[in-house]
Amino acid sequence: MKAIQIDEFGGPEVLYITDIPEPVPADNEVLVEIYAASVNPADSKVRQGTGPGAGNVTFPYIIGRDFSGVVRAYGKNISEFSPGDAVFGVLPVGSEGTYCEALAIDAALVAHKPDTLSHSSTAAIVLSGLTSLVSIEDTLKLQAGEKILIHGGAGGVGSFAVQLAHHLGAHVITTASPINHDYLQGLGADEVIDYNAQDFTTVLNDIDVIFDLIGGEVHQRSFKVLKSSGRMAYIAPLLKGASPPREDVTVLRPNVQRDRAHLLRIIDLFEAGVIKAPNIQEIPLDDAGAAHDLIDTQHVRGKIVLQIK
Ligand SMILES: NC(=O)c1ccc[n+]([C@@H]2O[C@H](COP(=O)([O-])OP(=O)(O)OC[C@H]3O[C@@H](n4cnc5c(N)ncnc54)[C@H](OP(=O)(O)O)[C@@H]3O)[C@@H](O)[C@H]2O)c1
Repeated sequence: MKAIQIDEFGGPEVLYITDIPEPVPADNEVLVEIYAASVNPADSKVRQGTGPGAGNVTFPYIIGRDFSGVVRAYGKNISEFSPGDAVFGVLPVGSEGTYCEALAIDAALVAHKPDTLSHSSTAAIVLSGLTSLVSIEDTLKLQAGEKILIHGGAGGVGSFAVQLAHHLGAHVITTASPINHDYLQGLGADEVIDYNAQDFTTVLNDIDVIFDLIGGEVHQRSFKVLKSSGRMAYIAPLLKGASPPREDVTVLRPNVQRDRAHLLRIIDLFEAGVIKAPNIQEIPLDDAGAAHDLIDTQHVRGKIVLQIK
């Protein structure tokens, strides 16, 4: 089968296409023919050797975390899937390998894909959707009427998070470059701040909840706008040695677990019409390097999806 591998850490040029044997599913696994796989910023961090799991990488290595495809075979303990079933899923934390034509994966991490969603749209919302659900519903427990600030609304996680927060009845404020303001208002943002032109700490205060997708100095400055007893969850790296400068607020690091129950919650939201697929840029698997050139700009609107079949 075709696969994109790396033999060393580095820029997008270290990604190369090759032929490798197809995996064989173990007893609890399904073999999925991958139709579409999304490109996540974490893929770039692994490629560069800067992600937290870099120490566990052994070359040659296939990156990529979420996918949509079709079951081709399964292990002897599997009863809930049959060959030909359209499915989607995400690999466990610390494990990768979706930039290829087939993947053997624990069936507990896979769910049926609805006919109403394309493989591309499904691949685009797996890890981003899981991250948003776990962060906003399970961790921050966002309530109707609360004011939420989402830093970095126009990216993969933000595109889902803005819609979810709007659906939950929050007042949604997000940050983005002007080119993305109409896009974000279309997803349900009530206010969009151009972070290049305006310091959010001078225009916001008394924020109930912050979902920080940017980290660094943005995270540290965010404490200025949180109300007393406010909550902030973050998923991007913080400044080295950073610690919360306030004791009257709660800072949370979501634990984005992978399981079928969460995958089905994403699908329920789509089927109820409250979440739509983000803006998607499709790129053929062979051009994975071009996809990584784009993700490295840190200005992708929505998601990049590798087209595999
Ligand atoms: N399990 C986890 O912990 C987990 C899961 C998923 C993601 N993450 C991390 O969360 C972060 C966000 O992920 P993602 O997939 O949403 O990334 P992404 O899709 O690459 O985000 C791109 C977006 O970031 C916006 N952006 C860049 N700099 C910004 C700034 N200073 N302020 C506001 N917006 C800015 C850009 O908007 P403009 O073009 O409008 O500027 C662009 O649309 C990444 O660091 C990722 O690794 C963690």
